[in-house]
Amino acid sequence: MKLNELTLAVFASGRGSNLQAIINSIEAHELDCRICFVLSNNSDSGALEIAREKNIPAIHLSEKKFFAETFEISLLKVLEDYRPDLIVLAGYMKLIPKVVIEKYRNRILNIHPALLPKFGGKGMYGMTVHKSVFESKEKYSGVSVHLVNENYDEGKILYQEKIDISDCNSPEEIATKVLKVEHTVYPKVLKLICDNKLNLN
Ligand code: GAR
Repeated sequence: MKLNELTLAVFASGRGSNLQAIINSIEAHELDCRICFVLSNNSDSGALEIAREKNIPAIHLSEKKFFAETFEISLLKVLEDYRPDLIVLAGYMKLIPKVVIEKYRNRILNIHPALLPKFGGKGMYGMTVHKSVFESKEKYSGVSVHLVNENYDEGKILYQEKIDISDCNSPEEIATKVLKVEHTVYPKVLKLICDNKLNLN
């Protein structure tokens, strides 16, 4: 293991295509990072399956099985065990507990499939975002990577890419176009952080 290698904990709830994009970038030696574990609230998530295939510790931790406090303790214990440099939310649909935010202040990133601060906030995730963008007849959407604070999608924006969606005729077409860009954005942002070209503080 190299000394300057960044360790990442990736949290994901769904299919895990952003996780896969990060793994691809690491395997192609474009990104000097190591994923120390993948965590999901969803035992059936594609993300956990991808992690198992790659021999990355795959952890299912659902708050449904715990009282709020014991869930937080379990999550802190996992973080204490692996001590990641960064927590990378890649389609993780749950709010991060306050104690974790405090402990990992400015070290938790999220990717959002729109141009924040528009189309963000509680309930705004996945296709709901693209449906709202479509209904608002926006000509542009995009991808945002931001720091995570106590509120959904409100932390400091670190990076954005704007996407022309004027040729899209449905929310699904927007989703496809945006996701393709997402897969380039997370590796790009992580590389900027690795190369000390993006300061999280
Ligand atoms: C991605 O589009 C990501 O931006 C979005 O969930 C999808 C996960 O896809 N996240 C949010 O909407 C967060 N508010 P993936 O599981 O294939 O990476």
